[in-house]
Amino acid sequence: MLWIILSFFLIFGNLDASVIRQKRQLSTRPIWPNATYLFHFDEVFPEWRKKLVWEVMDFISSVTCVKFQESYEEVVRIISQNGTRCASPVAYGGGIVNLKPGKFCDNAINHELLHSLGIQHEQERSDTAVYLNVKKENQLFLNNSEISIIAPFDFGSAMLYAGTENLKPYDMDYYYTMGTLPLSFFDIYNVNKLYSCTCAEELKCENFGYTNPSSCDKCICPDGFFGKLCNELKKEPIQPTHSWQTLSKTVENETLYEYIALPHQNATLEIFVAEFDENPLGGCHGGSVEIKYLPDPRFTSPKVCSHDGGRYLKVRASSNNPTVIVYHEGNKPLNYEIKYRYV
Ligand SMILES: *[C@@H]1O[C@H](CO)[C@@H](O)[C@H](O)[C@H]1NC(C)=O
Ligand SMILES: *[C@@H]1O[C@H](CO)[C@@H](O)[C@H](O)[C@H]1NC(C)=O
Ligand SMILES: *[C@@H]1O[C@H](CO)[C@@H](O)[C@H](O)[C@H]1NC(C)=O
Ligand SMILES: *[C@@H]1O[C@H](CO)[C@@H](O)[C@H](O)[C@H]1NC(C)=O
Ligand SMILES: *[C@@H]1O[C@H](CO)[C@@H](O)[C@H](O)[C@H]1NC(C)=O
Repeated sequence: MLWIILSFFLIFGNLDASVIRQKRQLSTRPIWPNATYLFHFDEVFPEWRKKLVWEVMDFISSVTCVKFQESYEEVVRIISQNGTRCASPVAYGGGIVNLKPGKFCDNAINHELLHSLGIQHEQERSDTAVYLNVKKENQLFLNNSEISIIAPFDFGSAMLYAGTENLKPYDMDYYYTMGTLPLSFFDIYNVNKLYSCTCAEELKCENFGYTNPSSCDKCICPDGFFGKLCNELKKEPIQPTHSWQTLSKTVENETLYEYIALPHQNATLEIFVAEFDENPLGGCHGGSVEIKYLPDPRFTSPKVCSHDGGRYLKVRASSNNPTVIVYHEGNKPLNYEIKYRYV
């Protein structure tokens, strides 16, 4: 089953001259002054759902310098559920964020709030043709020259739609990775760059982390790395051998990590997913395993959640020490078997 995040944007004609303007290469649209998103919920928005929206807002505020403030000033975003889809205007201005009732839009709050802050769809970047085969007749996908290109393209972006016949990655290993719900490392990075969020002093973050502008005493880390400086792991790395070993795991509703070390600097890890319970939802949001073999851990490696003609059996070579394995939580318990060795 494929899953598409439906969201659209509006373009504003009236731009307030006083708003902070960005450098051209970042964005041609205005951002919220003082990095403060002014909004209120419409009078019929349910309390329980406000909590969901606030959870996402609080998360964004915990990793960026953006603040969310309830307000009835003249230029204010109204969050409503009267509409028939999930949609938000992009960047600063008035207008309505629509979150149609139901799980579908509950899951898209991340995506819509990032639109609200000024982040465009990943598939609308001008470099999208390098990564995606976008069928021209599909009117959803615009050739958007106003897109902010800050971070590199990432298949794990919450701003990228799920794969379909009309939106296929050239590297089909990423087909089910597309359509992720949680904000990726680069989604958050984009917000920080767009709003020029910085700290007076930069920490010496490891593993490609950077100082968290919301709390300058710790780093924001790529998935799999933790601690103040991104140099802590969730557990001790496993030592591989020259012969194939099997790692079995059952994953419930909690993201789990494993790490595999390399015995020396010239060794390479060979690793693949041998068996698993299939749950192929777009963005693999029903649960997946991601072997982070790409050298830069900020990028999302292919998530495996579909048998997809045996594609998952492809042996990955990793020179990372350690190689991080992320078992992303899903909507039911899933079993995985991974085989690995070093050469
Ligand atoms: C900008 O935000 C800061 C911190 O929230 C606040 O103290 C200040 O009053 C704001 N300035 C304006 C002009 O809104
Ligand atoms: C949504 O509909 C309710 C009536 O059902 C109305 O009171 C409210 O103002 C509407 N919200 C918006 C943003 O139009
Ligand atoms: C789409 O964008 C590319 C690159 O910016 C540009 O060369 C091309 O003319 C655009 N096509 C249309 C139909 O706007
Ligand atoms: C998974 O969810 C169930 C029901 O909500 C809960 O009882 C259980 O403790 C959760 N397990 C984990 C590992 O979080
Ligand atoms: C790794 O390879 C380099 C260059 O080929 C070699 O000089 C070095 O001794 C090797 N180190 C180990 C631990 O095998």
